[in-house]
Amino acid sequence: MSNPSERIRHAPNPGAWPTRAQAGKSRLFSPLVHGNLRLAQRSWIPAMVPWRASDDGFVNRDVIDWYARFARGRPGALVVEATGIRDIPSGPLLRIGHDRYIPGLKKLVCAVREASGGETRLLIQLIDFLTIRRRPAPEKYFARHLQLTGRHRRALGAETWNESRIRSHLAALEDAALEQVLDARELESLRMGLRERVTDTHLPGIRELPRRLPGLFAQAARRARESGFDGVELHYAHAYTMASFLSALNTRADGYGGARENRVRLPLEVFDAVRSEVGGDYLLGCRFLSEDCIAGGSTLSDARYFAVCFARAGMDFLSLSRGGKFEDARQPKIGQAAYPYTGPSGYECMPQVISDRRGPFGRNVEPVAEIRNALRAAGFAIPVVVSGGIHGFHQAEQILALGQADIIGMARQALADPDWFLKVRLGFGGEIRVCTYTNYCEGLDQKHKQVTCQLWDRLNLEEAGLRRAKEGRRRLTAPAWVPPDAG
Ligand SMILES: Cc1cc2nc3c(=O)[nH]c(=O)nc-3n(C[C@H](O)[C@H](O)[C@H](O)COP(=O)(O)O)c2cc1C
Ligand code: SF4
Repeated sequence: MSNPSERIRHAPNPGAWPTRAQAGKSRLFSPLVHGNLRLAQRSWIPAMVPWRASDDGFVNRDVIDWYARFARGRPGALVVEATGIRDIPSGPLLRIGHDRYIPGLKKLVCAVREASGGETRLLIQLIDFLTIRRRPAPEKYFARHLQLTGRHRRALGAETWNESRIRSHLAALEDAALEQVLDARELESLRMGLRERVTDTHLPGIRELPRRLPGLFAQAARRARESGFDGVELHYAHAYTMASFLSALNTRADGYGGARENRVRLPLEVFDAVRSEVGGDYLLGCRFLSEDCIAGGSTLSDARYFAVCFARAGMDFLSLSRGGKFEDARQPKIGQAAYPYTGPSGYECMPQVISDRRGPFGRNVEPVAEIRNALRAAGFAIPVVVSGGIHGFHQAEQILALGQADIIGMARQALADPDWFLKVRLGFGGEIRVCTYTNYCEGLDQKHKQVTCQLWDRLNLEEAGLRRAKEGRRRLTAPAWVPPDAG
């Protein structure tokens, strides 16, 4: 969690709730149809990784319970967490990199259909990410990881020393002396943990990304369709591979970096490959950043340009997030990996109540409105999803009325109360558990612990058949809500 420059405490304020009749006439609860996107209402739960999958990336009972619980609130759309497209070990993160994942994903789709009575459109977010290692202990880094070269020997005046003497010498050096010997990347690997970049084209795997990724995304999308998902969201946001191609920090010299026309090339090639694989009648869109929010990163002007490119290519929706980068992440403890939501850009992604003057609520609305204006000016009616601190009905309604976005995304508010949508629609807004935006959930994500919400994870722990988090003290899903007149 990042500390903003100012430390002003804001309070969530959802305002008044509508009656059932008012909700029934609202924009939020009106249907939206565009291309392959058919929503019963204009609400959307963006992807959230809950750290529930099995260690080899399969859907299990806890994954099913988590999504079925969201589906019971009947949002317009629900996006399944960032799901890895490669067939490589990645801990308890959901995977779709092989056909063996399809049976589990099918069960997930069925559970969501049943829980939402078929009302909620279910998408899955497809992600590729590069290697990031834990911050090493310095002695380990110098003993094993640092690749010694003539440059180090010369800087130390140690041309005649054997390797082990150099390594022990380096391990004993103070920070200031190390800065004279190691280059910027080596210092970063020592202080933050090694992190691959899309610009590391000396590495064959990185050089070949433009050749490999379109096929990997296309096959993953085919599996998503075969599993029964209504659509796919390509993850082009935050700290991951595709966002790094879009970023202005991408200086690749092979036609996939530098000018923004080149930076958008691979994201468009991935989309084309996916579209060819799944067909023109399948729901496809992407999530990308309205702004990178880091020094030298992509700006709103870039995002407006990318949005028009994606619309022209034939995407069915665009979902906008902001920030969430590794470049400004806080230094992790030794043995832990950097987390891209700990710096100022991370704050922009998941803003919390201790904030600057602008506050955490709706920080992405203005940039998204500008992106939407650029799309409309270019003649594209593609729906745009906004998220970031949205929790009130009137706030959502105003965004839609002003034409700032077409669909309202709520991640943490839906985690705090998955029944938000149903409660508001039925006129029981007063019963909503309003998110406090203190980011307890984000703290769990950072520690790779099963994500829950502090507003409900200690409630009714004696409930029969309740499934608890690994350490045994938290329930894994929000307690059930029964509408009073149905109960
Ligand atoms: C626990 C947690 C996990 C998240 N995982 C993802 C993810 O897998 N993919 C993604 O695009 N965003 C992810 N996000 C970001 C949210 O989708 C959303 O953009 C962010 O929380 C801001 O929206 P909000 O204010 O409505 O929560 C995650 C957020 C949280 C709190
Ligand atoms: S833990 Fe719950 S209340 Fe706190 S920020 Fe997360 S969703 Fe909101």
